[in-house]
Amino acid sequence: MYKVAVLTVSDKGYEGKREDLSGKKIIEIIENNGYKLEKYDIVADEKDQIKEKLIEYSNANIELILTTGGTGFSKRDVTPEATLEVADRLALGISDAIRNYSMTITKRAMLSRAVSVIRKNSLIVNLPGSPKAVEEGLVYILDVMDHALAILEGDASECARK
Ligand code: MTE
Repeated sequence: MYKVAVLTVSDKGYEGKREDLSGKKIIEIIENNGYKLEKYDIVADEKDQIKEKLIEYSNANIELILTTGGTGFSKRDVTPEATLEVADRLALGISDAIRNYSMTITKRAMLSRAVSVIRKNSLIVNLPGSPKAVEEGLVYILDVMDHALAILEGDASECARK
């Protein structure tokens, strides 16, 4: 069972001024799909706080790290930049897929600057901030994540087509 960390990036959530419905939505979806929630935190829209958590999770060998929030155009939105700064390698196809699919739902999906990267043995995927966007994006990619994580773990045979 793959381990998952959920990181909500939100000034209001961090200050306790807004209930974290997006983080809760992610947890509900992953637990319904056979993943194990290992860590869950809320940080402010501060690059250093975001990076610190992403590094902590990947150093703990958590296979899948999902962030929500901070991917838009507001001045405080820095989640993609923090994610890129901790990256060993890019995995942008995942964010492209989420954006492409989301564009079939709302053209505003083009306003998400989300990225996906690999750090150590962890796959880090940014999701937008709203519970609706989280659900639409995460459900769309989830059935490919098992395969992604198996390859990342080193099971190259996983990719051989029968
Ligand atoms: N993606 C999906 N699937 N559904 C949505 O409703 N909203 C968009 C976009 N992606 C949306 C979506 C909007 S309106 C914005 S501004 C961006 O995500 C960035 O969101 P964030 O700043 O909350 O991260």
